[in-house]
Amino acid sequence: MPKIRQHVNPLKSDLLTIAAVPRLVPPSGGYLEVELGSAESLFLIERARVAGEALLVGVEIRREMVVRADRLCAEAGVTGVQNVFANMSVDLPRLFAPRSVRRFHINFPDPWFKSRQHKRRVVGPALVDELATALEPGGEVSVMTDIFDIALEAMAVLESDEGGRRFVNARAPWSFWPRNPWNARSRRERQCEIEAQKIWRLLYRVAEPPPSRSPSGQLAS
Ligand SMILES: C[S@@+](CC[C@H](N)C(=O)[O-])C[C@H]1O[C@@H](n2cnc3c(N)ncnc32)[C@H](O)[C@@H]1O
Repeated sequence: MPKIRQHVNPLKSDLLTIAAVPRLVPPSGGYLEVELGSAESLFLIERARVAGEALLVGVEIRREMVVRADRLCAEAGVTGVQNVFANMSVDLPRLFAPRSVRRFHINFPDPWFKSRQHKRRVVGPALVDELATALEPGGEVSVMTDIFDIALEAMAVLESDEGGRRFVNARAPWSFWPRNPWNARSRRERQCEIEAQKIWRLLYRVAEPPPSRSPSGQLAS
């Protein structure tokens, strides 16, 4: 079996121009739910058992990992998961039409600890802008990580996006979500549990637009 690299640099030129990135649409009568950086899709395989109406999409930048995810899905008999080789830093507009995704999960994004590597971190204003565009009204972004700095950085970006108007913290402003609400756990989450590592969880919803008012101040019907 080919060895799978631990990390790839998402800013490497060939990963900024991946060909044949598919367009994904919600299934008839269902919705799109996406994990960004899905590795072997263990989270999505478990999620498929409780989110039967969803097309679950795993976006992963290591091609060999996508092959492994496909194999694990087949072995588990799961058909509602689609694993895609793509770079979440640049490919979201190609993958998803505006307002087409119900939920994004970002589970344990790579930390890139060295300060000269911080520009490789994925959860920044540019990605959050793409998420806001791709999400349905009321759609959700869930982030989990065992690295407090990453959690705080992601929270700061989501809380301050467009002056705090686009996303609402599902618990309370500047608060963490207390537990895993998804009935599914990623590989890294399982490892954290074994090692008794604290996990920081964020859950944000796209803010509903306020009801429009007529010039006379009455609510539009
Ligand atoms: C630390 S692993 C976490 C994997 C899984 N989400 C979990 O919780 O176990 C981060 C994953 O994100 C992937 N990744 C990193 N940058 C990415 C990018 N720009 N686009 C897509 N996937 C990326 C990595 O290849 C890796 O599989």
